[in-house]
Amino acid sequence: MADRFSSKPPKKGKKRRTNLAKTALGAEPEKRGLKKSPTTDADQRAARELTAKVKTARGRKLSSTLWLKRQLNDPFVARAKAEGYRSRAAYKLIELDEKYGLLKPGARVVDLGAAPGGWSQVAGRKVLPGGLVIGIDYLDMPALDGVELLQKDFLDEDTPDVLKEKLGGQADIVMSDMAAPTTGHKNTDHMRIISLAESALDFAEDVLAPGGVYIAKVLQGGSEKSLLDRLKKNFSKVSHAKPKASRADSAEMYVVAQGFRGGSDD
Ligand SMILES: C[S@@+](CC[C@H](N)C(=O)[O-])C[C@H]1O[C@@H](n2cnc3c(N)ncnc32)[C@H](O)[C@@H]1O
Repeated sequence: MADRFSSKPPKKGKKRRTNLAKTALGAEPEKRGLKKSPTTDADQRAARELTAKVKTARGRKLSSTLWLKRQLNDPFVARAKAEGYRSRAAYKLIELDEKYGLLKPGARVVDLGAAPGGWSQVAGRKVLPGGLVIGIDYLDMPALDGVELLQKDFLDEDTPDVLKEKLGGQADIVMSDMAAPTTGHKNTDHMRIISLAESALDFAEDVLAPGGVYIAKVLQGGSEKSLLDRLKKNFSKVSHAKPKASRADSAEMYVVAQGFRGGSDD
């Protein structure tokens, strides 16, 4: 079954109908492609403890139970529900924005890897009306007021042109929360995420207005040297941040490049 974490984007012309609002906040690990069963004594112990705490856990695998418990106890999941955000990821962008002052009223924003739409919502609340938010993901997502959503693989050859046409000019922010499904193999996962960040940077360098901002998800240890070199050359300020909403046990972090210098000869 195709799902939000399957390893391949949908074939062209074949649209997914995943309920993303649900998968972001409510789906269980099996549906997200996580299939590990308890293997250690500690896991078994945790499973026994959890049966008392997560009452509906009968018949559910430990991985699902642990994930459900984490969701139920996660303050960002609760906040996202209360504040109407489609994902807890929204709080990562909120924190980056609070720290670096990125989303200005009237700004033109491209959100790469937008589903289920948390970042686009945050951007929309800050830059609209007057600005522009275009979100793209190869997964389907429900419409968002004032935001232009595009269901398409960002890596498709024609995508940059499609996005440029929608932009109809330059962008102030290109932000990428794109993530390929993790393989569990550290180097492979690192290479995949850097490759997505590099593709996002190719696009950003093409469309950003001078002074523009690029944000991308990378893995801990910071950005790959080649990516970082490019960022330092083409932006006046480059920072790394791990927002509180980024889970402590995840190697994910974000690179934020501000002050686009307006062009590259690479
Ligand atoms: C962590 S999620 C984004 C969450 C989002 N920022 C939010 O706040 O709701 C990563 C997204 O990147 C998307 N993605 C990964 N590779 C992509 C690609 N090549 N083209 C388009 N979307 C991609 C995935 O489908 C997934 O929805």
